[in-house]
Amino acid sequence: MLEQLRTGKNFNSDDNVKICQPHLVSMGDNVSFYYGVYIEPCDKEITIGSNTHFAPYCVIYGPLSVGDNCAIAAHVTLASVAHSHADPNRPMVEQATDQRKIIIEDDVWIGANAVVTPGITIGRGSIIGAGAVVTKDVEPYSVMGGVPARLIRKRK
Ligand SMILES: CC(C)(COP(=O)(O)OP(=O)(O)OC[C@H]1O[C@@H](n2cnc3c(N)ncnc32)[C@H](O)[C@@H]1OP(=O)(O)O)[C@@H](O)C(=O)NCCC(=O)NCCS
Repeated sequence: MLEQLRTGKNFNSDDNVKICQPHLVSMGDNVSFYYGVYIEPCDKEITIGSNTHFAPYCVIYGPLSVGDNCAIAAHVTLASVAHSHADPNRPMVEQATDQRKIIIEDDVWIGANAVVTPGITIGRGSIIGAGAVVTKDVEPYSVMGGVPARLIRKRK
């Protein structure tokens, strides 16, 4: 099954990494998945650039694109899917899925335990602080933190 994964050179995958629907996952060179990473495309494409790593216990859903030179710290969730909840009279698990692509541009560092919600773009060169919940698009070279994530400062 994992032979359907499209990897570049020097792909590293630790023990206990789970990749669902590997035919929907493609990546550049020098990509690492550390212990316990869980990848679920949910029938959509996941693309990962070169020199990007996912630290232990990251959980990522599709559709998703992550650029080159990104550092995704431990326990980060990139949640491209959520439960629609418009109708309070129906169980949320029976309502449509809210599935919107997350885009992480190049050279982004996402700190430990951060969560990115559906449809968000994080601009190039940005840092997402540990524990943040990102609910709005992030401009390039921003340092963000908190719940919901707010601008701490610009890098340039
Ligand atoms: C976001 C981060 C990079 C900011 O570092 P920094 O630029 O040195 O910022 P500072 O420590 O000078 O803090 C600046 C302000 O942001 C606040 N801040 C820092 N990190 C924050 C975070 N994660 N969430 C919310 N606020 C944060 C500080 O309290 C400070 O606020 P103040 O000005 O009101 O006192 C860093 O705090 C962080 O979260 N790093 C992630 C670490 C990590 O997850 N490592 C895992 C292995 S890679």
